[in-house]
Amino acid sequence: MKNLIFPLALTILFTSCGGGDDKKSENEKNESSTETVDITKNPDYQKGLGLIAKSDCLTCHKVDEMLTGPSYRDVANKYAAMSDTIITHLAGKIIKGGSGVWGEIAMTPHPTLSQEDAEAMVKYVLLLKK
Ligand code: HEC
Repeated sequence: MKNLIFPLALTILFTSCGGGDDKKSENEKNESSTETVDITKNPDYQKGLGLIAKSDCLTCHKVDEMLTGPSYRDVANKYAAMSDTIITHLAGKIIKGGSGVWGEIAMTPHPTLSQEDAEAMVKYVLLLKK
C-alpha cells in the first residue's frame, strides 16, 4: 500500500506546483501592463535609438507618422510580442531589405549593418508599442 501512495502523492505535488506557476505569470503580466514604465531609460531603447540616429532609417521612418516606410509605432503594434523569433526576423529584413508587408514600396537593404546592431534597432522599435 505504501508503494502506491508515494508516487500518487508526488503526482499531486507536481500538478499543484504547475498550476501555481501559471497563476504567478498571469499576475506578473497584469502588473506590468498597468505600470507606466519610462521606456527612454531602458538600455535597449537608448542603444537602438543611437544606432538608428547614425544610420539612414529616419529618412524613411518616423516614430508616429508614415513616411516612405511605416511609422515605428505601427511596426511595434503589429508585432505585439517582443519575441526572439520576431527580433531575428525583423533584423534580417532590415539587413536584406524588402517589401510586401506594409505595401509595394521596398525598404533598401543595409548590408553593412551587423545582425547584432540590427537587432538592437528592432528592440528600440518594438519598445514603442502602445
Ligand atoms: C528607403 C527607405 C527606408 C529606409 C532607409 C529604411 N526603411 Fe525600414 N522600411 C521601409 C519600407 C518601405 C518598409 C515596409 C516594407 C514592407 O512593406 O515589407 C520598411 C519596413 C521596416 C520595418 C518593418 C519590417 C516588416 O517586415 O514589417 C522595420 C523594423 C524597419 N523598416 C526598420 C528600419 C531601420 C531600423 C532602418 C535603418 C537601418 C530602416 N528601416 C531604413 C523603408 C525604409
